[in-house]
Amino acid sequence: MSNKPENLTLITDDGLRLDGRRADEIRPMKIEVGVLSRADGSCYLEWGRNKILVGVFGPREAHPRRSQRADSAVIRYRYNMASFSVEDRARPGPSRRSIEISKVSREAFEPVIMAELFPKTAIDIFVEVLQADAGTRTAAINASSIALADAGIPMKGLITSCAFGKVDGKIVLDLNKEEDNYGEADFPVAMTQDGEITLIQMDGNLTPDEIKQGLELVKKGCKEILEIQQAVLRKKFETPVEEVSEET
Ligand code: CDP
Repeated sequence: MSNKPENLTLITDDGLRLDGRRADEIRPMKIEVGVLSRADGSCYLEWGRNKILVGVFGPREAHPRRSQRADSAVIRYRYNMASFSVEDRARPGPSRRSIEISKVSREAFEPVIMAELFPKTAIDIFVEVLQADAGTRTAAINASSIALADAGIPMKGLITSCAFGKVDGKIVLDLNKEEDNYGEADFPVAMTQDGEITLIQMDGNLTPDEIKQGLELVKKGCKEILEIQQAVLRKKFETPVEEVSEET
């Protein structure tokens, strides 16, 4: 978030944003499932200009052994930005930012992954941001949810994620790059299918009323994303009736 150039208007008088969206609209999302043959589960997701690839491995024996837990699987989440994913080359290797995003994203999944079924194992979620355009942590969580389901990891439900923010004094859903750069606040959220919040972060300043208004928008955004996620998984896993009858 930086100082906005004086002549830059992010929202027009008739309520349209620079990319033509209204305040309550998310960017177009496209999801492909099962794109990596060596991973147990995988997903490629585009959201606006973000491009994210996720590979899930496990449950598999956790190494090193001292990392194992006798009563459950350990969940590991690694968020990484490709050096070519941003305008100024991203320095390879972990940064404060990527370590923080990995931690909060892992925590966003812990309430739904049934880790207790797989003692002494590890479930690894590897996120590669190929192209970043604001909202990569939320995009990566949406993709990870699909990759985990693709890997057959037992979960109580999917996790869905979306941010709201404040731009030109207005509360809007799913910030694009200009809004992220020059907006007044960014507020990423992740939630379960039942609307229980598993990640909440805030950059900038918001009043309690603005947060309330933003959370309503995020609920709407997450509902739309959940429908996209469910449609993709249904398509992948549903068995055509003809195939079943042919085999029997
Ligand atoms: O991506 P997200 O909104 O979750 O995280 P952020 O830290 O708020 O970053 C916002 C955006 O800034 C990213 O999506 C990238 O487009 C950009 N960025 C960058 O250009 N270089 C970095 N080293 C980190 C982020």
